Amino acid sequence: MRTVYLPRESACTGPLVLVNSAHPLRVRDKTALCAPDESRPGVLMERQAARLLQECIRKTGGWDMIVPVSGWRSYTEQQQIWDGSMAENGEDFTRKYVALPGCSEHQTGLAIDLALAAEEIDFIRPDFPYGGICGEFRRVCTAYGFIERYRRGKEELTGIAAEPWHFRYVGAPHAQLMEENGLCLEEYSAFIRSAPRSCTMPGGQTARVFHVPCAGETTELLLPDGCCQISGDNDGGFIVTAWGRSA
Ligand code: DAL
Ligand code: ZN
Repeated sequence: MRTVYLPRESACTGPLVLVNSAHPLRVRDKTALCAPDESRPGVLMERQAARLLQECIRKTGGWDMIVPVSGWRSYTEQQQIWDGSMAENGEDFTRKYVALPGCSEHQTGLAIDLALAAEEIDFIRPDFPYGGICGEFRRVCTAYGFIERYRRGKEELTGIAAEPWHFRYVGAPHAQLMEENGLCLEEYSAFIRSAPRSCTMPGGQTARVFHVPCAGETTELLLPDGCCQISGDNDGGFIVTAWGRSA
């Protein structure tokens, strides 16, 4: 066992942060960004998310048929998208498909909008069907740590309409746990908070996931031996992932 000391601000950063209208971004991250598709250097993601998206796309068949449309956005860019959509599409549409500036997970660098390659691609609602190569991407992306973030049926919880094109990096055991249990990110933190969870990955590796509430300015945390990852949940705590041996 070893002890780590987590400052309060770190509860607001990491791959599992919940970002929505009730959970705005609290820190302006100095996230290291890079382009998952080298031929589109303007579409950026957080480095680890970009690397895993790259691997996932390679597995799916390459960037020929899938186009990254929008990745990391600054607050200013999110504001411009919001203002442009309000002027062009009106308030109802905008509230359904554009997150309030300060409350978009695109601002974390962990989200990506994908489109099926086409002559014309809609920036706010790109076409990313459930069949063909896009269906293949959906089948494999969980293993690379990505979730379809805004599913039909979860609109009341997410506050956003179904967006089949918007994927969010959360990390492999979490994407699998959410998929297995039919949970959106709004539900996941409560799921982990209520009990520690275990997950066996397709390759046999096991992970134990548990929640630790933020205990003030500094949270003292006892970590088990072995590889552990800690992420803030942007909801007053930390989610710890402790990897075990392969089964
Ligand atoms: N389209 C998603 C909700 C965003 O603007 O972040
Ligand atoms: Zn998006």
